[in-house]
Amino acid sequence: MSKSEFDIAKDSLDAGNFSLFIQEQERRIDSSTIGLITEPEIFEFISSGLGEGHPNNWITRESTWNSGLYGPDHEMSVSEHFLHAVWQVFSLRVARKLEIIQSKVRISDKGAIICFPGGFDLSVLVSYEGAGTPGSVFIRPIAAIQNPTGMLDLEGFLENSTPREKNAIKSAVTSVDKLVYHRGTIVHVDRQRENVFGPTVDTVVLSELLNIELRKRKKKSTSILEVGPGSGLITVSAALNPATSRIVSVEINEDAASCTLKNLQINGRRPTSSMVSVSVRAEKFKPQTLGEKFDIIVCNPPYVPEEDDGLEKLGATGYGKAISGLELYDDVINNLDHLLQSGGRALLMMSSVSFDYAINRIQEGFEFEFPLGRTGYKVPFDLDMLWDRPSWKDQLLSNKSIEQDGAGTIYHRIVPIWIHRNGQ
Ligand SMILES: C[S@@+](CC[C@H](N)C(=O)[O-])C[C@H]1O[C@@H](n2cnc3c(N)ncnc32)[C@H](O)[C@@H]1O
Repeated sequence: MSKSEFDIAKDSLDAGNFSLFIQEQERRIDSSTIGLITEPEIFEFISSGLGEGHPNNWITRESTWNSGLYGPDHEMSVSEHFLHAVWQVFSLRVARKLEIIQSKVRISDKGAIICFPGGFDLSVLVSYEGAGTPGSVFIRPIAAIQNPTGMLDLEGFLENSTPREKNAIKSAVTSVDKLVYHRGTIVHVDRQRENVFGPTVDTVVLSELLNIELRKRKKKSTSILEVGPGSGLITVSAALNPATSRIVSVEINEDAASCTLKNLQINGRRPTSSMVSVSVRAEKFKPQTLGEKFDIIVCNPPYVPEEDDGLEKLGATGYGKAISGLELYDDVINNLDHLLQSGGRALLMMSSVSFDYAINRIQEGFEFEFPLGRTGYKVPFDLDMLWDRPSWKDQLLSNKSIEQDGAGTIYHRIVPIWIHRNGQ
């Protein structure tokens, strides 16, 4: 059996030699690169090596990202060397992806990318410059957060940040180009031209869980159905995974279906390839019309109840289709019996605002588990209409579907769930 990324990283740290590690990292399309630093043993090693325990300081220190510092006489500690090695692999990978994006769509020549190198709890904001000229993209780390609630929570980055960091954060929030990277997959959403919600923390968590499941599978020919791919991060990442043989993605929003196709192309998978067959259908999900069964179904459905009038108005927009209405839970969960292969599993995202609704849909003959625990992750719930509809907000607060902290930030909990037939 081939060694895991973690074992190779540990061996290289023990030997103080990183050439094999770098080669191996470059070979793996879904490698976690700097995400490895959150593995407890590696974390401990670097903390004691640098006498400093915060990944933000590890990643943003100049010796990690600035190759110009290293001359023949320069001495590096093993921890510094490791951080430099993982940064090199990571930044090269991101720079290559950016160059491909530039060759296919127009993006600003400076900006920021929100990155999840691997694992659940490390997000890194990087700035890029020099887009437009092949070979000249320069990537620099701005800040790293080790905490799942910080994922995609750009305001979280603002705490204690320098003016340079604040500018990069502003650029990530306000730029027309939303760029999110997860484990070797990058997705681009043009906020002006595409009527697409774009990946949020839920997407990244589902993508990571799917990645874990695919790594466990002995069977290297897994078929996957994604319902509502949006920007396509999960579909694209699954298409790159060697365990996947077929993906069908069904998306009601035409812009989102096109965005998924664009992101498949950016990441090197076209709708048809000899290794994996990918079909993106721009239509409302109708289980009966699919005519096939899948090993895995993945769905990040809208999870805001629609009864509230403030939300109804949103229904027609891409944003509204992405967040409001609970019917996709019914459409997916009620049809698992004829959509899942024997031994198949469905991965869905629930929110504390829709938890009871979704759980009550699960039919007899099926069981479920919560890969991140029943309470999942607490993440910001930034819906403007909460403020427009104070009574709805009060109701959600009183039944504890959402929480508000002293600074007024509102949170909900995202709870992924795996559903499968009893005994399988
Ligand atoms: C929460 S968003 C998913 C976001 C996505 N994970 C991403 O990275 O952009 C839900 C998606 O489901 C789609 N959707 C909603 N109802 C649908 C339906 N009945 N059939 C197919 N897609 C649907 C929405 O258009 C939206 O793209």
